[in-house]
Amino acid sequence: MVLNGENTENLPPPKAIPRHKGHWLWGGAFDFRRNPAEFLLEAHEKYGDVFVTRVLTGQSYFIRDPAVVNAINVTHAKHINKPKVVKQMWKPFLGNGLVPNDGESWRRQHKLIMPGFHKLRIDAYAPTMAAYTRDMVREWVEGEQRDFRNEMVALTLRVVAKTLFDTDLAHDSTTVHDAMEHIVEALIDHAQTPIPVPRWWPSKRNRRMVKALDAMDGVIARLIAARRREMEDRGDLMSHMVFATDEQGGMSDEQLRDELMTLIFAGHETTAHTLTWAWYLMATNLDKVAKAREEIDQTLGGKPIDVEDLPKLPYLEMCLKESLRRMPTVWIYAREAQEDLRLGDYFFPKGSILAVSPLATGRNAKYFDNPMEFRPERWTREFERVLPKGAYVPFAAGPRVCLGKQFAMMEMQIILGTLLQNVEINILDGFVPDMLSEISMNPGERGMQMNVRFRDGAPARLGDWDDAAEISDVHAA
Ligand code: HEM
Repeated sequence: MVLNGENTENLPPPKAIPRHKGHWLWGGAFDFRRNPAEFLLEAHEKYGDVFVTRVLTGQSYFIRDPAVVNAINVTHAKHINKPKVVKQMWKPFLGNGLVPNDGESWRRQHKLIMPGFHKLRIDAYAPTMAAYTRDMVREWVEGEQRDFRNEMVALTLRVVAKTLFDTDLAHDSTTVHDAMEHIVEALIDHAQTPIPVPRWWPSKRNRRMVKALDAMDGVIARLIAARRREMEDRGDLMSHMVFATDEQGGMSDEQLRDELMTLIFAGHETTAHTLTWAWYLMATNLDKVAKAREEIDQTLGGKPIDVEDLPKLPYLEMCLKESLRRMPTVWIYAREAQEDLRLGDYFFPKGSILAVSPLATGRNAKYFDNPMEFRPERWTREFERVLPKGAYVPFAAGPRVCLGKQFAMMEMQIILGTLLQNVEINILDGFVPDMLSEISMNPGERGMQMNVRFRDGAPARLGDWDDAAEISDVHAA
């Protein structure tokens, strides 16, 4: 038989895929909805690396087998798209932006936008990231209680606004912040409801979401119009996108709106929540904090962190890689088979939903011994070399790999590094965070409560580091 353009006759017959039966009418939909991450982790333990359940009329396959994950992400990506139901969910928010887009339109947009993420451009954002982190810490007061998650959401939003739009969002931060909150709320509702409420339904939540979207659209339209008027490349991502052209010309205002919305959306909560979990994992493993801090103190000797320091701080990077394994914020992503497919040892019929969970892959004891242990030391070069492709995919991989991967890794190293230099990493005594597996894995309304405790000499050191000079030439590269 020919499958995915290859003759599969010489392959052994495909392995049977265990089925989670669930409810007679809803299939596995409600089991998944109750606590998605818990359901997924338990079901993988029970059924193995691939299992299937019915969600309404469709078949959803849950996959943590690295060979199949790699086939989905990389080798057979051209036969696999984003699911129609996911596109429908994103449509009102992200329109035809990179995340939900597919096919020729995605290829064109990807080609136009990708150079905006060139290392040189991204590196030039490092001083902004460091300076904004220091601004945040300067506002903190010794002994007070803060929600670290809120701090990170505000900080990463400020970074994205500056690097994307070259604006400080001073006037628009509340609009953007509230809009994002309502949009995420509506998305979660949509994702978790087996029969979603239609957009036109005049519910309070829908009305709030429409209002939030209008406000966001207003902010974005104003920024695009101003940049087109000025005709000046200010080194931010929006300049790159406004002025990028190919043989078909540049992007329409509508496409630009969709891409900018996508980047704001994809680019801040993901990073904020990854940092929140890294903070939690480190606060509960203080020996790792001591080790990361020693590396930073010895390497930097009290000077502020910058992009050229990062290669000299391998342990810091290992801490983040390990956090992304244990608590990946994008804990699940989905695709749809465009034809009958043979992937690894399994057969998947056309139309199947293929769900890959970085959470489930990262906790697979076959590849990560003692997976619940937070052990950054496991991330040696040798370990990464022998780790099967598809076993660790917090940013996905292949053509649909996260476009902001380098941006996010650099931002997180700079933020966590600056914090390690200046404050004690801790959570409030006895505080146990919730773990909500929503659009991104997050600690919910109770947040991540911490006590501000400065390291010796930190306030004076922060005062000495002169930020004004650094921010002014952020976009020089
Ligand atoms: C720790 C932080 C982040 C994580 C864990 C993360 C993870 C991911 C994952 C797993 C995907 C694939 C989703 C799917 O295929 O359904 C993705 C896609 C994407 N991410 Fe990220 N991301 C992060 C930060 C960022 C940042 C900072 C930006 C932009 C500034 C960004 C922009 C994007 C874009 C544009 C895509 C769509 C790429 C495409 O399909 O062509 N991400 N991200």
